[in-house]
Amino acid sequence: MNSSTRIPAKRYVELLPEKGHPSEIPFGWYFVAYSDELEFSEIRVISCFWQEWVLFRDECGSVGMIDPYCPHLGAHIGFGGKVDGEMVRCPFHAWGFDSSGYCRDVPYAKKMPPILKKGPVLKYLPVIECNKIIWAWYHPGAVAPIWNVDNFPETMSNNWIEYEKVEFEISTSIQDIVENSIDYSHLKYVHGHTSTLLGETRQDGIYRHVNIGADVQVIDREGKPDSCHYSIELIQKGPGQHTIRYRRETELLMMFLMTPVTNEKTILRFAFTHEKYPEGSYEHKSVKEFMLEKLGSHGNLNGVHADIPIWNNKIYRKKPLLCEGDGPIMPYRSWFKQFYDGGS
Ligand code: FES
Ligand SMILES: [Fe+2]
Repeated sequence: MNSSTRIPAKRYVELLPEKGHPSEIPFGWYFVAYSDELEFSEIRVISCFWQEWVLFRDECGSVGMIDPYCPHLGAHIGFGGKVDGEMVRCPFHAWGFDSSGYCRDVPYAKKMPPILKKGPVLKYLPVIECNKIIWAWYHPGAVAPIWNVDNFPETMSNNWIEYEKVEFEISTSIQDIVENSIDYSHLKYVHGHTSTLLGETRQDGIYRHVNIGADVQVIDREGKPDSCHYSIELIQKGPGQHTIRYRRETELLMMFLMTPVTNEKTILRFAFTHEKYPEGSYEHKSVKEFMLEKLGSHGNLNGVHADIPIWNNKIYRKKPLLCEGDGPIMPYRSWFKQFYDGGS
C-alpha cells in the first residue's frame, strides 16, 4: 500500500479520551540541550512540550526557557531577541524578561505597568544543568518540580570522554519507547540476541531499575572467541531520565535522552561516554564496537535502528494480548501512569 493512502491508525487511538494514556506528555525532567551547545548570551528556539520555546544562556551563565511570544505586542523573542545581563530583550520594543517570566524593564516607559510587579507575564519552565545536560521540568498543570535530576559523576570526570552524540526523530510516545526496556522477547527478534537475556525489574516510587544479563561470546585480546558476562543496568528516574550501564569487556555509559515534542513525536538522543582508553588498545576497540552495536548493526546484533520502524508504525494497544515470555509490560505501564496528570 502506498504510504499516502495508509489509514493513520494512531489517530483513532489518540481520539479516545482517557487519563493516564499516552495521549498526553507525562510530567518530569527532560533533556532540552547539551550544556556545551549553548554559549553565553546565546538564544535558541526549540520545539518541545507541544510548542516552541526560547532557550537562552544569560551573561552570567544561567539558563532560562520562556514562551516565545512577547506579552506586549506578540513578537517572537527567539527571532532577533538579545541577551542583556540576566534578561532577554524582545526584538520589537526591547522589553526585558528574566528566566522566571518577569518583565524587568520597559526601556522607554517612565512608569512600568503595575501588573508587571505582580508576577510573571511569560510562561517559563524550571531549568537545571546536570551531567553536562540542560534539563527542563514540564508539567501540564504548571506544577513546580517534584524531584531532582540525578547526577552521574562519570559524565563530569576528566577520565571519561566527552559525550559521543546521536539523535533520532521517532513517531511515538516516550512511554512506548521506554517499554522496549522490559520487552525481553523482542531482544531476540529485533536485536538478534541469540542468548536468552534474563531481566529483572524493580519499581520503587519514581525510580525503575532494570537489570538484564547473559553470557555472550566475545573475541578476547588474543583474537580468540571467549565467553563473557554481559550486563545491562538501567536506572530510570521519572519518565525522562534514563541512564544505562552496559558492561561486557568494557563499560559503556549511555544517557538515553528523550524530548517529547508532542505525544506522538519524540526526539531521542543517545549520549555515550566511557573511560578514556589509548587509541588502538583492546579496550578502545571493544568500547567503540559496543557503541556501534547500540546504534546500527555490528555482527549479528542490531541496535536502535531496528526499533525505529516498529516504533514509527505501531499503535498503542491498551489491552495487549500477552503471553508467557513477554516482559512485565503491564506492571511497567501501571508504574508509568503516575507521571500523567491525574493518572495515578
Ligand atoms: S512586542 Fe515585545 S516589546 Fe513589544
Ligand atoms: Fe529494542
